[in-house]
Amino acid sequence: MTLNYNKKVMKLFMNPKNMGEIKDADGIGKVGNPRCGDIMWVYIKVGKGKKKGEEIIKEIKFKTFGCAAAIATSSMITQVAKGKTLEDAKKIKYQKVVDSLGGLPAIKIHCSQLATEALNKAIEDYQKEKIKNKKWNKNGK
Ligand code: FES
Repeated sequence: MTLNYNKKVMKLFMNPKNMGEIKDADGIGKVGNPRCGDIMWVYIKVGKGKKKGEEIIKEIKFKTFGCAAAIATSSMITQVAKGKTLEDAKKIKYQKVVDSLGGLPAIKIHCSQLATEALNKAIEDYQKEKIKNKKWNKNGK
């Protein structure tokens, strides 16, 4: 079956942005879709925002084994999320990713859902780790 990807999707598929790994990432999100077999990893580095106590996504990268849409949506989610506060990044909807790509074939919408899921997991991973470290420090260990 031939899919009609638009030019923007094809361009990102051929030349994705922010592809790779962050070795000392603050949070890592890994997701997979058992039906299509695609796997994504999102790596984030968290920094301080302009407001007091605000945390932002300072750096973000992805690694994806998957279809053209999976690669293009992974790339787009990193572009949309970079520089956002963690709270705002968590609110990014898959439709925003689809719209930013100028649309996706209907059977490829789940690829964008995978991308938002991977980002959310990376943020959760960071936040869980932070809570764990706080408890650890409180106990003086
Ligand atoms: Fe499943 Fe693209 S076909 S993520």
